[in-house]
Amino acid sequence: MNTVKLAICGGGVIGRRHAGAISEVDGAELAAIADPAPGGKALADDVGVPLYTDLQALLDAENDVRGVIVSTPTEYHFEPTMTALNAGCNVLVEKPIMPTLEQAEQIVAKEQENDLHVLVGHHRRYYGLVEEARRIVQSGELGKLVCVSGIWNARKDDPYYNPDWRKRRDAGPLLTNMIHEMDSLRYICGEIESISAEVSHEVRNWEKEDAAAMVMRFASGAIGTFIVSDQANSPWAWEFATGETVFFPRSGQNAVRFIGTEASLDFPNLVVWHNGDQTPDWNHVMEPRETKLELENAYYRQIKHFAAVINGTEEPVISAKDATATLRATLAVFDASSTGQRIAL
Ligand SMILES: NC(=O)c1ccc[n+]([C@@H]2O[C@H](COP(=O)([O-])OP(=O)(O)OC[C@H]3O[C@@H](n4cnc5c(N)ncnc54)[C@H](O)[C@@H]3O)[C@@H](O)[C@H]2O)c1
Repeated sequence: MNTVKLAICGGGVIGRRHAGAISEVDGAELAAIADPAPGGKALADDVGVPLYTDLQALLDAENDVRGVIVSTPTEYHFEPTMTALNAGCNVLVEKPIMPTLEQAEQIVAKEQENDLHVLVGHHRRYYGLVEEARRIVQSGELGKLVCVSGIWNARKDDPYYNPDWRKRRDAGPLLTNMIHEMDSLRYICGEIESISAEVSHEVRNWEKEDAAAMVMRFASGAIGTFIVSDQANSPWAWEFATGETVFFPRSGQNAVRFIGTEASLDFPNLVVWHNGDQTPDWNHVMEPRETKLELENAYYRQIKHFAAVINGTEEPVISAKDATATLRATLAVFDASSTGQRIAL
């Protein structure tokens, strides 16, 4: 495979993680970083690559860059993504793809017009356990999927909100955390057809929401509920369940349940509850069957995949169009709450 030169636009928390992943992938090399703030300089110094204050200057100077990772705050995803596409680069933009559907649709159009790929940082798609949950649900092992129940509740630390952008709507738990859940739900269960919801700002009283509760109907006929909050302290969220990063200590507690006519699945713990040879009804004992999978390094796999997509050897695992559907479903939660209506997707 040809070594692919990559640039990072936005050298903050997640930009640093991408830089680490690039250093581990054979066939990918970090060429430079664009970031106007001191955090970007610290990262460029740490990894020993040139720093530019804006992406256009970087691309003008480093003309062998073939892929750009856009890891700026969500409200600043659009301009660098367009700049990269206009320079003929493929893009891996962090999630959510864009803060608005209008911008996301412009990106999808530009990507097609320039015959390039825009991948989106829904990194959970690179975990074997997500793939396995999708297989279990789609294979009919649970019977017909009837209900889904999910929770993502965490109390983020106070310093997390020091940057002002994290108090704004685009950085709330819906667009920061629920968007991952929404993407996994769509990937595992198929399309979501409609959403009803309540959103609350009772704890902090900031522009961003503190919590949301939603009801969703899937195209398959299954129905689901989900609650999300970044102010509610609990052991129930994907990160705590999986121990995905050292920053959020593992609780091992399950966060989502997929429930079918024959059996149920705890997720992400991958425990199928079933009746064995007995009739699947409430008169019979349900037994757990656990599948143990090691948690891979999804960020490493994501960069490896990005390089392969650039080299034309793999098709995108998550396209801009797909991520736009995830964004549409997530934004519908705001609309459903503010209008009091069920939103058809
Ligand atoms: N995939 C995930 O699990 C995951 C995790 C965390 C964050 N994210 C996403 O990553 C994005 C960034 O989040 P973060 O926590 O790393 O933020 P951050 O504030 O730590 O870092 C953002 C960086 O972008 C820089 N920046 C701002 N405008 C810029 C511009 N125009 N050009 C170049 N650099 C610019 C800032 O100076 C800062 O260094 C958000 O969209 C967030 O939703 C994804």
